[in-house]
Amino acid sequence: MMRLLVTGGAGFVGANFVRHVIEHSDHEVAVLDALTYAGHRASLAGLPADRVRFVHGDVADARLVDGLVGDCDAVVHFAAESHNDRSLRDPRIFLHSNVVGTFTLLEAVRRHNTRLHHISTDEVYGDLELDSPERFTETTAYNPSSPYSSTKAGSDMLVRAWCRSFGVRATISNCSNNYGPYQHVEKFIPRQITNVLRGLRPKLYGGGRNVRDWIHVEDHSSAVLAILETGRPGQTYLIGADGECSNREVVELVLALMGRPAQAYDQVADRPGHDQRYAIDATKLRTELGWRPRFGDFERGLASTIDWYRTHEAWWAPSKEDTEAFYAKHGQ
Ligand code: NAD
Ligand code: TYD
Repeated sequence: MMRLLVTGGAGFVGANFVRHVIEHSDHEVAVLDALTYAGHRASLAGLPADRVRFVHGDVADARLVDGLVGDCDAVVHFAAESHNDRSLRDPRIFLHSNVVGTFTLLEAVRRHNTRLHHISTDEVYGDLELDSPERFTETTAYNPSSPYSSTKAGSDMLVRAWCRSFGVRATISNCSNNYGPYQHVEKFIPRQITNVLRGLRPKLYGGGRNVRDWIHVEDHSSAVLAILETGRPGQTYLIGADGECSNREVVELVLALMGRPAQAYDQVADRPGHDQRYAIDATKLRTELGWRPRFGDFERGLASTIDWYRTHEAWWAPSKEDTEAFYAKHGQ
């Protein structure tokens, strides 16, 4: 049993991870979350109070973080600004949360000699050609495109440097695009599902040929727990489940699963600097730690995600109007 500090545990991936930990281990969890527009206390509703406690605060608050790190056995660091489109319009907060936040945490784990797992993204590697067989591995050179991915790249570099220079016991994982319950409606899949539920048409950026490598958030959680418990400090692990799909294919599948005609979507303004394709080679995670995805059937996973949004309107409805107003301002 470990006492975990989970930063960003009220966000999409963090909340799913906390739920996974409660179901699949004996660990206790303290969540540190700033409850930005992307954090929801409701995403942690129903969890046992004797195993999960919530602390409202900023991961860049050095005093608060030092006290929490001093009180735990390991830290899992999800807290970040996470949306590319927002980072293109207002990058400053990404530097604060993603770079200064990670630095603050690293200084605390260094002082207390506490194990850290840092959550990152495959977007630090930039993008791949649409039709190439190439995939990202742990040795692919960093080449981020957006303010979001560059601040995540910066946070990874800080973790690597603190491991090498100060002997911090940290691992890093870089995962591909997640989908599943509790994802903010600004993100691609929930935006399209909730558009259809609201009688709006899905919105595809540009030609929709861009490819993302989809993984169910539950598989991301099981991989992170495996790395935390059995990964080697100082190492990076890529997480992916061989789920490459073009954006157009995803929109058409959402429409089909929701009983709408295949062409009932709009093409809107493309994202500046839009990465073409991401693809993960997760051989190291599979061979070294024996991890396997359990939710590999994308169509089934998408159908259950649609059901979740259908039955949890009270969770997403308060964010929908502002999100669509943000996109409308930018022709998206
Ligand atoms: P999210 O935006 O849904 O959640 C982020 C959470 O962090 C929110 O609860 C927010 O309140 C909190 N937060 C933000 N700034 C904070 C701060 N300064 N202090 C404390 N809390 C703060 O994001 P997500 O999709 O759940 O992503 C979580 C992590 O996983 C990020 O580090 C992201 O880079 C990484 N990741 C996400 C994906 C994906 O597909 N969603 C894929 C790979 C990696
Ligand atoms: P997103 O969920 O923002 O994740 P990321 O930028 O981290 O990959 O977007 C996923 C893909 O979907 C990306 O290629 C942009 C595209 N997209 C759309 O086509 N329409 C949309 O409404 C959104 C939000 C994204």
